[in-house]
Amino acid sequence: MNGREIIRRCRLLAQHTEEPGCITRTFLSFPMREVQRLVRGWMEDAGMDTRIDAVGNVRGVRGDGPRLMIASHLDTVPNAGAFDGILGVIIAIALAEQKPQCAVEVAAFSEEEGVRFGIPFIGSRALVGSPVMDEEVLAAIREFGLDPAQIPESVLDPEVKAFLEFHIEQGPVLESLGLPVGVVEGIVGLSRWDIRFEGQANHAGTTPMEGRRDALACAAEWIGLVEHVAETTPGLVATVGKIDVRPGAGNVIPGSALVSLDVRHAMDEVRERASNVLLAGAEHIAQRRSLTVATELKLDEPAVALRFEMVEQAVKAAGYAVHRMVSGAGHDAMILAQKIPAAMVFLRSPGGISHHPDESVLEEDVDAALAVGAELLRAWQADN
Ligand code: HGY
Ligand code: MN
Ligand code: MN
Repeated sequence: MNGREIIRRCRLLAQHTEEPGCITRTFLSFPMREVQRLVRGWMEDAGMDTRIDAVGNVRGVRGDGPRLMIASHLDTVPNAGAFDGILGVIIAIALAEQKPQCAVEVAAFSEEEGVRFGIPFIGSRALVGSPVMDEEVLAAIREFGLDPAQIPESVLDPEVKAFLEFHIEQGPVLESLGLPVGVVEGIVGLSRWDIRFEGQANHAGTTPMEGRRDALACAAEWIGLVEHVAETTPGLVATVGKIDVRPGAGNVIPGSALVSLDVRHAMDEVRERASNVLLAGAEHIAQRRSLTVATELKLDEPAVALRFEMVEQAVKAAGYAVHRMVSGAGHDAMILAQKIPAAMVFLRSPGGISHHPDESVLEEDVDAALAVGAELLRAWQADN
């Protein structure tokens, strides 16, 4: 498989979506069945023994002895692009197809984004022995025809000694430098919260402004604080990406507003401090407006350092310039890094755009990633 064929297959998989006209594929949703079938077939064409594990990961193994796992995710955000996650899966299959001397395990994770249930990394967390066991997740597993009792069998085989993920950068850096690939030295820490403001629904026409307990107006004031704190804290990003307002009628003062909060920074103490400022701010604003606020932590992943040395050597051996960078996006590599050495290779994102239908990748950059991958497999084989 070359870059052109890999891109073709990504676009083929993009047709399998929950929403005709755009790419949306969440945890164990109906289009996942056909995607699993196609990916599993490509793994078998590459000479791998395959299975679908109890959380819906597609797993393929080729060769005996110490294994290198090469993996990424099958799921997407709503109205996504065609390459986030899936590109890394197809590159992994392409590298296994080249029949490397070392043993390779390819994993296509069932859920990294955390869209369906607000819980990310469901696929990869099962491999490191910290499976997500929320009842709604287990129900989705049963509904898909899988058996939660077999989740423990998803854990990493002891033969898997290291992890490698190819992924689009999803940002502007490589394009600004004119580089096809990047060496990822770490992934920022990330926290995700649900913040619920509770006020008082009432008639929009007959209720004086004085004394209203408007949950959406309260949330709006707080969202301004989120942006201000992020803009004034170097290296911090904070995002409110989702809001659910009830009862949601134009002529009713909102009684409740549920908002998401995503906070990221390369240094955990800065992220934690900023999170605390924002949570305290929510309490303060709510109190001043006579509302209540409840917060729920949904995710707290510390920043991780990745193993970049071997990747740097492989990029040089493949004839490309080395650029080391930290990922502002979360990846399955940060989960696997809890158990085994993990590395990532980024591919240039034209326009720096991702989590958007305009997301793309260049054929020559996929070919560059394949060349780096082949050098990595050679080096890894020599070391193991
Ligand atoms: O949200 C992220 O950083 C990744 O795309 N899951
Ligand atoms: Mn993503
Ligand atoms: Mn991704």
